[in-house]
Amino acid sequence: DEERLHQRFESTVEHDQRVEPRDWMPEGYRKTLVRQIAQHAHSEIIGMQPEGNWLTRAPSLRRKAILLAKVQDEAGHGLYLYSAAETLGVERSDLTEKLVARRQKYSSIFNYPALTFADIGVIGWLVDGAAIVNQVPLCRCSYGPYARAMIRICKEESFHQRQGYELLLTMMHGSEQQRRDVQDAVDRWWWPSLMMFGPPDGDSPNTQQSMAWGIKRHTNDQLRQKFVDMTVPQAEVLGVTLPDSGLSYNAEREHYEFSEPDWEEFHRVLAGEGPCNTQRVERRRAAHEGGSWVREAAAAHAAKQAERGRA
Ligand code: 3HC
Repeated sequence: DEERLHQRFESTVEHDQRVEPRDWMPEGYRKTLVRQIAQHAHSEIIGMQPEGNWLTRAPSLRRKAILLAKVQDEAGHGLYLYSAAETLGVERSDLTEKLVARRQKYSSIFNYPALTFADIGVIGWLVDGAAIVNQVPLCRCSYGPYARAMIRICKEESFHQRQGYELLLTMMHGSEQQRRDVQDAVDRWWWPSLMMFGPPDGDSPNTQQSMAWGIKRHTNDQLRQKFVDMTVPQAEVLGVTLPDSGLSYNAEREHYEFSEPDWEEFHRVLAGEGPCNTQRVERRRAAHEGGSWVREAAAAHAAKQAERGRA
């Protein structure tokens, strides 16, 4: 009966065990996971655009090969995550329809433009760096398929972050113009990277419940703080200045103090008014529509195979 099933679910979460697709789960738990995993998957796929725009303009074959590998990884991450979402009874095609109809979100960070090749390094260093801080705890998420997808994704994500940082180190030892490009990219990506972790805990309607369900292991502010603490020393090694005059080390707390991000901007970007929202969604819609003939041909071929199998 439902009471006993609910108790078993609660005890699974309490004992840090995994809830699997065939287990009973509260409808709210399933809904929250569909929302978060779909959004995560959409973020991976949309995230291919700012970097993909630089594939034909990479400065060397080596940089092009690295960037190509990274963009392909993001597509794979999207695939794992859509597959994890499908274990909850949703269709990937339906999630894509919702994305292009702006009825589902993707991470705000991808609504900013990548203006120079230095942006590729800063995206690797800051955006993938923030994604790692947010994703490592998700490897211990109470929902099995999501946690397992995260373990594979986090391994590939660390290559993404390291290649970005290495590119920036190289550029910072390059020309004056390269150093200026790097600093300019850091100035543009720093605050949006802090916003990736979500609104302050006090304005986060989902955090408390997600923590109780073992979906989130830390709050938005805790992960944001961890990211700042990790990144400030890296910025010093790079020789770039982070655009926050409020940054200072608090020896007592053993954390860096930093200024509040502009949550007005955050909400504007979430409402679709970021620099690139329209372009990103339209590009995704065009790719989806442009690819429909491939999906139809594959389905027709599969039907013929099945027909032959039955004959
Ligand atoms: N971008 C877009 N929407 C955001 C957001 C962001 N950066 N931060 C919060 N939101 C939305 C939430 O989705 C929620 O809206 P909804 O209820 O309509 O979905 C609302 O703002 C309130 O935020 P909450 O903190 O209450 O929401 P969550 O508990 O879902 O926390 C989150 C937000 C921390 C982003 C969480 O959803 C999460 O950890 N998601 C999985 C990680 C993820 O999606 N990362 C994307 C990074 S990009 C990436 O991974 C690609 C990599 O290769 C670079």
